Amino acid sequence: MLNQKDIEFIDSLVKKYNNDKTYLIEMGFDILENYGYIPKELLEELCKKLNIFYSEAYSNLSFFNEFQFEKPKEIKISICNGISCYFNGSKELINDLMDYFKNNENISINTGYCFKCCAQYPVAYINDEIILNANKESIIQKINTQKN
Ligand code: FES
Repeated sequence: MLNQKDIEFIDSLVKKYNNDKTYLIEMGFDILENYGYIPKELLEELCKKLNIFYSEAYSNLSFFNEFQFEKPKEIKISICNGISCYFNGSKELINDLMDYFKNNENISINTGYCFKCCAQYPVAYINDEIILNANKESIIQKINTQKN
C-alpha cells in the first residue's frame, strides 16, 4: 500500500524525467537509491503514470542484476565455505543456523569463499561485521546485540 510520500516520490520521478518512459532505467536507479529495492506497488504506480504495462517495466528492469524486487533482509549472515573453514565446522554451522533461523524472515544465510582469516575458522560475517571462530552461539549473541 502506497502512502502519500510514495505517491509524491513517483510524481517527482515522472516530473524529473519529463514523463519519458525511455528513462525507466534511470527511474529504477532512483527508486533503488531511495528504497533499497523496487517495491511492486511503486513500480505499478510509476507504470500508470508513464502509461506502460507493468510487465514491460518489470522485464526491462529485471534484465539488470542491480534491480531487486524483494525487500532486502535486515540481517545477512555469510559463512565462509572455503577449505579451512569447511573442514573445521562451517558446514555444520550453516546447517545449525539454517535450522535455528528457519522461521525468521528478516535473516538470510549465504556462503562465501575464503574471507582471508583462514586460521580463525570458521569465519562469518553478519552484515559488515566479521565474526572469527564463529559458532552458533556467538552468531546468535551478535545478532541479539545488534537488534538492541
Ligand atoms: S577458508 Fe574461511 S576464511 Fe579462508
